[in-house]
Amino acid sequence: MSNVYPPPEEFAKKAHVPSMDAYRELYRRAEQNPEAFWAEVAEREIHWFEKWSKVLEWDAPFAKWFVGAKTNISYNCLDRHITTHRKNKVAILWEGEPGEQRALTYLELHRLVCRFANVLQSRGYKAGDRAIIYMPMIPELPIAMLACTRLGIIHSVVFGGFSAEALKARIQDLGATVVITADGSYRRGKEVKLKAAVDEAVPECPTIQDVIVYQRTGSDTPMQIGRDHWWHELDANATEDCPALPLDSEHPMFVLYTSGTTGKPKGILHTTGGYITQVTAGMKWIFDLRDEDTYWCSADIGWITGHSYIVYGPLSAGTTSVMYEGSLDFPQFDRWWRIVEKYRVNVMYTSPTAIRALIRQGEHWPNAHDLSSLRLLGSVGEPINPAAWEWYHTVIGKSRCPIVDTWWQTENGSILITPLPGATPLKPGSATFPIPGIIPDIVDFNGNPVGPDREGYLIMRRPWPSMARTIWGDPERFKEQYWNKFPGSYFTGDAARRDADGYFWVLGRVDDVMNVSGHRLSTMEVESALVRHPAVAEAAVVGKPHEITGQAVCCFVTLKRGEWNHDELGKELRQWVAKEIGGFARPEEIRFSDALPKTRSGKIMRRLLREIVTTNTVAGDVTTLEDMSVVTRLAAQQDED
Ligand code: PRX
Repeated sequence: MSNVYPPPEEFAKKAHVPSMDAYRELYRRAEQNPEAFWAEVAEREIHWFEKWSKVLEWDAPFAKWFVGAKTNISYNCLDRHITTHRKNKVAILWEGEPGEQRALTYLELHRLVCRFANVLQSRGYKAGDRAIIYMPMIPELPIAMLACTRLGIIHSVVFGGFSAEALKARIQDLGATVVITADGSYRRGKEVKLKAAVDEAVPECPTIQDVIVYQRTGSDTPMQIGRDHWWHELDANATEDCPALPLDSEHPMFVLYTSGTTGKPKGILHTTGGYITQVTAGMKWIFDLRDEDTYWCSADIGWITGHSYIVYGPLSAGTTSVMYEGSLDFPQFDRWWRIVEKYRVNVMYTSPTAIRALIRQGEHWPNAHDLSSLRLLGSVGEPINPAAWEWYHTVIGKSRCPIVDTWWQTENGSILITPLPGATPLKPGSATFPIPGIIPDIVDFNGNPVGPDREGYLIMRRPWPSMARTIWGDPERFKEQYWNKFPGSYFTGDAARRDADGYFWVLGRVDDVMNVSGHRLSTMEVESALVRHPAVAEAAVVGKPHEITGQAVCCFVTLKRGEWNHDELGKELRQWVAKEIGGFARPEEIRFSDALPKTRSGKIMRRLLREIVTTNTVAGDVTTLEDMSVVTRLAAQQDED
């Protein structure tokens, strides 16, 4: 039995949702009349230029929320605050890795966003056009995003760690006409060049008209005349008069690529009104934010967590959001705690991988700093093992701060299963309960609900406002991937169980998707990269338990005829994958093999390989073996499907 941690009394007293009874009442109202519930939330949290005629149009699996309404996300994140006491409140509190600081108030951020929106507008970009944003963690990244949403330009942020190949595939799939980037960024004290990858990708992307480059590092950056433009030069001619465009509630807002079960990433499409409503509401329910809070989500904006919980959620809710450019160990392992101490961070949201990396370095790093400003902690991206939870709770939160273990996915847009910190008694390792309006269930292979303490597939029974609307350019894949398996319900791809108290325990993926440091990566994507190497005949890739990153990439490779030095080739293949996809996908291990296990129909049995790497090397306290075996069993059912 794990410990149960009730909300601290002091915390509960002041919380937005102050008790389990209050949570149950909200949940009951949402369950009984979801449309009335979400309409009330939308009305309270969001500015609408025009109201909706209908809350939900559900032509399964395609949803429209707040039908006919008009709003603008940039307006909600900026304009509505600058006529209030928040005008001179800090919106983004940024720290560069070398140590520079910028504090952008809502008024200043509004000004910069208007200027950049004006730049885009004056170059002819308009609602419905697609922009790729490939930038480091600097304020100009959210500025570019908010400038796009101001004009209805659909943005797709590509994580700066992705390679030129990955960038190219995304530009092409989206048919983007502009790339917004920077010369480079700082990571562990060194410059990481970004523009060089753009130069490699763009010649094969005929739709691109302009590349706009922000000067972050000032290092030597070749510019192609006619195509490339310095941000600061365009900005010099911009005006600040650029009103936010009233957009349809279902106007496509952004596409974020994520790994699926094939080699081709999926462009997850999110729209306007439903997304901003649910993301904003969660800031109060889940992060219990108050106007005086300083909030810090340590994710990268290139992933969904950064979109929803560094940029759009916090700014729409009028929060001061901390943003840090660099790595957690630079110049040493107390960088994060220095930031918490310096800015008196109250709410901190991070990943189990980061927590485990910090545990390994020892308590003396956090203990050397005053962390007394913290009142709430969050975790996201992968299951958090109870030992890491306890460390986070005791060493960082000094047993005073509740932890919200938030479960959700790129496709969900916002957090769906999570504790509410003033209400929910916590069990380390459990994401606890759904937020109001979300109806999850756990079912067996035939779609029948399983009983308490039984493992099964995690599904969602009802649509929610911030859900993905489709896969860009591929509605059939959207249906097939998420909705056909359990008709009428959304299939998450995760295994879960619910205990006798109704707590949800998410166990991990049941499909061919790995979760490395909370980053989603498909086995097929890595396999496709490997077989592009001239020495490789066949490859099978599986996730293997890893003490720090949750899972690590493990590759089984058969080679073409020839004399190969396995040591050297192993190194080369690891580097090859990093170049083809990005550094974060670099395999931990390459195993050479004469043959791969296959079914009679010729399908590689990854399930067996998963078992091999799992039973060989279960390390420390990452996941319990039992949980892994559940995932393996459920995955086996799918193999046979
Ligand atoms: O397996 C679940 C895991 O991360 C997957 C979603 O990955 P992605 O779309 O990249 O989004 C990550 C950040 C929202 C899920 O299918 N996952 C995410 N959060 C948790 C989690 N697993 C367990 N507990 C969590 N809190």
